[in-house]
Amino acid sequence: MTVSLRQPTGVAHTRIYAYGAARGERAVPNEDLIGPIDSSDEWIRQRTGIVTRMRAEADTDAIDLATEATREAIARSGVDPSAVDLVICATISNPKQTPSVSAIVADRVGANPAAAYDVNAACAGFAYGVAQADALIRAGAAHYAVVVGTEKLSDVVDPTDRSISFLLGDGAGAVVVGPSDTPGIGPTVWGSDGSKADAVGMNHTLTDFRDGKAPWPTLRQEGPTVFRWAVWEMVKVAREALEAAGVEASDLAAFVPHQANMRIIDEFAKQLKLPDTVVIGRDIETTGNTSAASIPLATHRLLEEHPELSGGLALQIGFGAGLVFGAQVIVLP
Ligand SMILES: CC(C)(COP(=O)(O)OP(=O)(O)OC[C@H]1O[C@@H](n2cnc3c(N)ncnc32)[C@H](O)[C@@H]1OP(=O)(O)O)[C@@H](O)C(=O)NCCC(=O)NCCS
Repeated sequence: MTVSLRQPTGVAHTRIYAYGAARGERAVPNEDLIGPIDSSDEWIRQRTGIVTRMRAEADTDAIDLATEATREAIARSGVDPSAVDLVICATISNPKQTPSVSAIVADRVGANPAAAYDVNAACAGFAYGVAQADALIRAGAAHYAVVVGTEKLSDVVDPTDRSISFLLGDGAGAVVVGPSDTPGIGPTVWGSDGSKADAVGMNHTLTDFRDGKAPWPTLRQEGPTVFRWAVWEMVKVAREALEAAGVEASDLAAFVPHQANMRIIDEFAKQLKLPDTVVIGRDIETTGNTSAASIPLATHRLLEEHPELSGGLALQIGFGAGLVFGAQVIVLP
């Protein structure tokens, strides 16, 4: 007689319960960075919209930032930390290649022995993590998940690099995802284009650094290539996410794109024909580009500044090194 295997099924719907945020302790103005890159405060403001970026102290790492943001998200969610059975950290700045940030964060916040793993999807990492938490909860593989984007990018910055260093900041943004009576996370549109892997990423390997063949690896990008890809290709992805969710741009309460460059954000808003009623995340101005942390940090700020957005729809889209991208419409808690 054959034994029939039991396979789990989960809940019908999920939603984001709450957000948490942590930013690096120091505000670093443009003036502090322009010397070694022969730039100016005016150039950085005009070309990127950044006035200051937040950077962490030397003894604060991506795990510390993630822990702080996750504690806030769990506290606000009303979920007991011990009921969290899945922790997904999206990061490219784990101080060590292993163990994962997630396992340590799960333990620190009282969610031990939750399943825990890191996602390396750069600036799309948070959207990837939300896609996974949503799918795993609906499949019955988890019940309450934490998704946290966390980065200490200042550790991988070369102060003499003109291509990306002045954009980057440190921070973490976290959410708790759990079961819902109504749909709270729309279909995810995600993907990659590894043929453009050289457009943005680390300039050297760790082994080259070890062998004295290269300096400490730092982030580099072909700025205009990434800019054009973001503006042309990512707008299509954003439209697909709206379509997949069955909503129009005019149904949105908020738009939270990855905080890469204010000009990219403005171009998105124009091409998506967002009405003035849609509030746009512009956290980049004072936080900088925090890769995986940028979307939840920007959303956390929007909810602080505009509590009336609660219950409304937000379109979020992440894109970056890989190249990778991910977008979905969510209901704001
Ligand atoms: C990096 C970025 C801000 C550069 O802006 P840009 O408008 O594309 O600038 P360009 O590289 O075309 O350079 C324009 C001019 O500014 C100069 N320039 C470039 N970097 C500069 C800097 N840091 N400071 C001052 N001048 C600079 C160039 O030399 C060039 O001068 P020229 O016109 O005299 O030749 C922009 O390309 C960008 O934001 N790219 C995408 C970022 C992104 O989405 N990343 C995703 C992964 S996180």
